[in-house]
Amino acid sequence: MSDYRTPSLGDTIPLVPPLYQSSVYTLPDLDALDRILDDGQPGYVYARDAHPNARHLASRLAELEGGRWGIVCGSGMAAITAVCVANLQKGQRLVASNRLYGRTVQLLDQELARFGVQTEFVDCNDLDAVRAALEKETRILFVETMSNPLLRVVDVAALARLAHERGALFVVDNTFATPVLTKPLALGADIVMESLTKMIGGHSDVTLGFLAGNNPDFLPQVTAAVSIWGLASNPFDCWLAERGLGTLPVRMRASSDNAAALAGWLAGQRGIRRVLYPGRSDHPDHALAQRVLVGALGNMLCFELDGGRDAVNRFLRVATGIPFSPSLGHTFTTLSYPWSTSHRYTSPAEKRRQGITEGLIRLSVGVEDLQSIQEEMRKGLE
Ligand SMILES: Cc1ncc(COP(=O)(O)O)c(C=O)c1O
Repeated sequence: MSDYRTPSLGDTIPLVPPLYQSSVYTLPDLDALDRILDDGQPGYVYARDAHPNARHLASRLAELEGGRWGIVCGSGMAAITAVCVANLQKGQRLVASNRLYGRTVQLLDQELARFGVQTEFVDCNDLDAVRAALEKETRILFVETMSNPLLRVVDVAALARLAHERGALFVVDNTFATPVLTKPLALGADIVMESLTKMIGGHSDVTLGFLAGNNPDFLPQVTAAVSIWGLASNPFDCWLAERGLGTLPVRMRASSDNAAALAGWLAGQRGIRRVLYPGRSDHPDHALAQRVLVGALGNMLCFELDGGRDAVNRFLRVATGIPFSPSLGHTFTTLSYPWSTSHRYTSPAEKRRQGITEGLIRLSVGVEDLQSIQEEMRKGLE
């Protein structure tokens, strides 16, 4: 009878990591179970706790982030949830940037409040405001390296110092920058988070998140939170994300070059009120971005059309070669409309405060030929 558990490959080793789609593993005896669960010996029991594809992906990503540990979660939101539930107790307090992805704001502001955790949102580009907010005892300071959608860049190293002076954990969502452009752990972050759904997966076919850090003390709590709260990843998504990871640096460079060129070109087109790209001298964080991001300034840019929502609708119906697809990081250029997607549940007043207007389009620039993007944009703008 052939042994289905250990397919015989002779002396050959697959170049690509195999996909372990199994949700559970078989164990020879109870001692083997204890060795894995109690002594941390190699092996797997149940995929919600750990599986080979997540471990393999996590080790490659942790290396890229310059972290000593890493864990993959079922989505970016699962990763943020894991970091929160692993590190916060009822009655504790969080300070967060007042420019974050809409769902993150809902999690920190509304969901955590139901468990007795309060969040104060501050302008993290104003270090005095952050210092003042941290005067009250704070467990976590949470920011995005480059904010969704307006690409405000924060001074990660300065914020890390402020957080640590006050004994707070510093957690950085690095989704828009990716570890190719900046490594928050090297700048002092305690935990970095990435939505792998975006540039790292890179092909719009996975939903995953990731956490990494240097202090191994965080790992057991986060690992337990992922299993207990059901925040785990599935093997096939991890397998796909690992495939995407191989081309991440090349994609980030090529798409950032396209974005930089496109930002300049767009600023000269009729019907456009403003273009937001950290590489442009009129971006509020232009100088800071050159310090925090290395080698390139990212593939994301925003532009505002004269004429608000109606103008956006007309643009979408004509420029069909740039799909309206409310995510980012695909190989080719897609666009989103923050007012009704990433910030749909944010109040109109708060959206306006941040600069998210009814004419604002967010572009995730891809690696295709720049001329083909311009051609499509031209159709929409006409
Ligand atoms: C900056 C940022 N963080 C986190 C998330 C959540 O990631 P996911 O969609 O993988 O849950 C998103 C999603 O758009 C995001 O833009």
